[in-house]
Amino acid sequence: MATPCAQRPRLAVLASGTGRTLQNLLDRIADGRMRGCIAGVSSDRADAFALQRALEFGVEARMLKDPSAIWSWIEELDVDLVLLAGYLRLLPVIPEYEGRVLNIHPSLLPEFGGKGMYGEHVHAAVLAAGRAESGCTVHLCNNVYDDGRILVQARVPVLPEDTAPSLAARVFAAEAEAYPAAIAIRWHELQAGREQPA
Ligand code: GRF
Repeated sequence: MATPCAQRPRLAVLASGTGRTLQNLLDRIADGRMRGCIAGVSSDRADAFALQRALEFGVEARMLKDPSAIWSWIEELDVDLVLLAGYLRLLPVIPEYEGRVLNIHPSLLPEFGGKGMYGEHVHAAVLAAGRAESGCTVHLCNNVYDDGRILVQARVPVLPEDTAPSLAARVFAAEAEAYPAAIAIRWHELQAGREQPA
């Protein structure tokens, strides 16, 4: 049985992969570093480890691919925010959830974003371009990959000896702080009724 999910903001998480981002949020909520609760986790892949992590925390987990099925599930869960966490599909945002869907991307958008730019592809491109700095971005989602108003960016240095995995690890450490910060910012904006364009 799923654990009760009373604390706001109520969150739904969509993840395609290992779910490290999900795990970070689950851990922070569990130890009180972050406010809110995760009402459900969905993946487009039945073998996504993210689903298993959710079940281990007593959180409802569903494999769903079709956007209309995803939105019915989200509306049923009655969540305040939808968090994309390593989710590799474009989820067309329905009007009721405009400004309530967030994504985290492992680069300083608008650079190194867009379709096909995920995981180590991003970090390899940053290294190939010879950048001295990289980082992560949390933004609101619209119907374009990695677009939408930026809520938080965090910067990290690129070191001369970096490989894509070493840079990915440094960026991920920044992501672990940036996503909870962005969730709090957006939730406060919505609470304060400060509707900002997505
Ligand atoms: C992170 O790098 C995040 O920026 C991107 O997906 C990665 C996390 O995937 N959107 P996971 O949580 O390890 O599945």
